[in-house]
Amino acid sequence: MDFNKVLENRYSVRDFKDVMVEDEKIEEILNAVKYAPTAKNTQCQEIYVLKSKEAIEKIRSVTNNAFNAPLVFITCANLERECHLKYPVRSFKETDVSIIQTYMMLKATELGLDSCWVCRFLPEEVKKAFDMPDNVEPLNLLLVGYRADGVEPNPRHFDRLNKEDYVKII
Ligand SMILES: Cc1cc2nc3c(=O)[nH]c(=O)nc-3n(C[C@H](O)[C@H](O)[C@H](O)COP(=O)(O)O)c2cc1C
Repeated sequence: MDFNKVLENRYSVRDFKDVMVEDEKIEEILNAVKYAPTAKNTQCQEIYVLKSKEAIEKIRSVTNNAFNAPLVFITCANLERECHLKYPVRSFKETDVSIIQTYMMLKATELGLDSCWVCRFLPEEVKKAFDMPDNVEPLNLLLVGYRADGVEPNPRHFDRLNKEDYVKII
């Protein structure tokens, strides 16, 4: 799919068909990660792929924003690989993992899948539910699947600022 079409076609979907995403597509989404830039190339990502019935039930038990997605990725930072500047004090874990997730999300669109980026969860609850080690911090969820019949973009999707409102050419 043309890259502009990928960008234009994506919107957040919160109601999915009860159909599992093909393993080859899951693999392609995960492969997209290797092309992403990260600060100092530290690649601090850890990705949990929730596809079993048990795992999906678990994520739904800790957030109602997993909706009915058949496949959920939890994108996390491995704090042992995090790029952390001492001066000025700054961590790049959120930036790096968000870039990773963006690549995955756009790859999903290119594969004809639908998705929703979700942050409405308590990290400590997710950590506990999936028995994550101390050095792993869950940052985002990416819900993926095929949208249910009749799903349309939320009106908010079309509510976009004009370029003039946020671009300063100097
Ligand atoms: C960092 C981030 C966090 C988000 N968290 C949630 C969430 O917890 N629940 C949800 O339903 N949508 C969530 N979204 C989706 C946004 O609401 C959505 O992207 C925005 O309204 C624009 O709509 P669109 O994705 O259809 O273009 C999140 C998106 C981002 C980028």
